[in-house]
Amino acid sequence: MMRTFDTVGVVGLGTMGAGIAEVFARSGLRVIGVETDENALARGRGHLENSTGRAVARGRMTAEQQREILDRIVFTTSREDLADADLVVEAIPEIMEFKRGLFADLDRICKPSAVLATNTSSLSVTAIAATTSRPGQVIGMHFFNPAPVMRLVEVIETVVTEEGLAAEIAELARRLGKTPVVAGDRAGFVVNRLLLGYLNHACHLLQSGLAGRDDIDTAMKQGVGLPMGPFTLLDLIGLDTSYKVCEVLFGESRDRRHAPAPILRELVTAGLLGRKTGRGFYSYTGEGTAPAPEALSKPAISLVGIVGGGPAAASFVSGLDTAGFKVVIAEAPDLGPVAGADLVIALSDTPVIELAVRLPRPERLVGLHLVGESVAEVVSTVLTSDEAVTAVCDLVTVLGRTPVRCADRAELVVNALLYPYLNDAVRMLECGYASAADIDAAMRLGCGYPAGPFEMLDGIGLEKVRDGLRALYAEYRDPAFAPAPLLDQLVTAGVPSVRSVG
Ligand code: 3HC
Repeated sequence: MMRTFDTVGVVGLGTMGAGIAEVFARSGLRVIGVETDENALARGRGHLENSTGRAVARGRMTAEQQREILDRIVFTTSREDLADADLVVEAIPEIMEFKRGLFADLDRICKPSAVLATNTSSLSVTAIAATTSRPGQVIGMHFFNPAPVMRLVEVIETVVTEEGLAAEIAELARRLGKTPVVAGDRAGFVVNRLLLGYLNHACHLLQSGLAGRDDIDTAMKQGVGLPMGPFTLLDLIGLDTSYKVCEVLFGESRDRRHAPAPILRELVTAGLLGRKTGRGFYSYTGEGTAPAPEALSKPAISLVGIVGGGPAAASFVSGLDTAGFKVVIAEAPDLGPVAGADLVIALSDTPVIELAVRLPRPERLVGLHLVGESVAEVVSTVLTSDEAVTAVCDLVTVLGRTPVRCADRAELVVNALLYPYLNDAVRMLECGYASAADIDAAMRLGCGYPAGPFEMLDGIGLEKVRDGLRALYAEYRDPAFAPAPLLDQLVTAGVPSVRSVG
């Protein structure tokens, strides 16, 4: 017989717990929200009032509906009030000791038929279940921040989960207006396993000086169409949570991609945890906000030299022509035609430094890689002058693109971040953890990505991604960048889509 979930307890009313309580209350369920003390309870109530208040302000709900939602939630500091709950979802900090203590309490307090769920981001649901006398009724129910907005719920079953329970929790998630993806108990599940590897990689690239914070965020938001750049998202998730998830992932995978970047440790130790503390990678207190953009001015350049051919170079040259610049082009290995130009722009796959050393004035050479319709990666070498980089940034701005400054490294910023993430998704499929359709849905609905990794792979082309990964591996020698065997084999076999096998 199917269980009914009418009364739901939510333990922990921080950002996630309050969001989860709101989701249940919005769907008409009775909610018991539990916090440790009156201060924490008042903060939790504040989160709920703000979030529903924002919906009222935007005309998404009436004040009357807001009151009804808030009236469905009982706020308490006593866990004993959960005795009648049909389901309890835990959203307390990611510390195993705390979770074990809580679940032992819940097991004692809640009625025998109650299901106990954890919203853990990465910890072992099996280990949490093992602290209770009802491990078959313990399950993962993982929401995404902001919980009222993101449509995914990961339902995590363990080897001892009662048969049929995952399907019942998945049905409940649908009742909440969410899309469930059911997966086994593995560190990071589907989304965090892929997401945190990418976010942590962005931290490593920032530390290595490849590009600045704003440049990397702009590259991924505008260049790939993600809803947020990696540092904005890390600040939203919380740097402490991100650090802990990475540690757990690394503990299981021993993959350097998951070893938390030192910059995360430093920020966490300094108490700069992201939005919730007012400062993380960015400041949210009003100070240090970006200055107003300067008025555009066309750089004073008499002659622009272009190195490279193909459609990207042709469309860039035509833009320069239209903007009134005089252009000379070197399409072949002979760089003679551009030797006398004021500024030389390389639009080719050759490392920029290899071209620079062949020019009489290497400080005037800047690399350029056009990403999508609106971004241009502006590449400087150890020999490039600041004036040349500034001139190219002005020039691409005049041509309607946002410049992203970076160093001359394999695959620059966007592809260096995107391709290993796509590779991780192929590895996840290859080891049989989840289907391509589930992985795609999880990333679209859990992170608001415009497409899942396999949809992105098809769009870019498997061979291009495989070759990019080989270039990354050759540059950084990190085994994580070696193309997944499945990707390599599909390219060799001429199969155009990973989705055809998963
Ligand atoms: N609470 C409630 N509602 C919120 C909200 C919040 N904190 N933030 C935004 N919203 C709502 C707004 O009210 C608005 O609703 P409306 O369309 O009905 O008016 C809608 O979301 C869009 O908000 P905004 O217009 O203010 O802002 P954006 O368009 O920039 O969207 C965003 C904000 C939804 C957060 C979007 O940037 C996004 O999708 N970002 C990616 C978030 C993400 O990746 N989350 C997953 C993180 S991983 C995780 O949580 C797992 C954990 O285990 C680590």
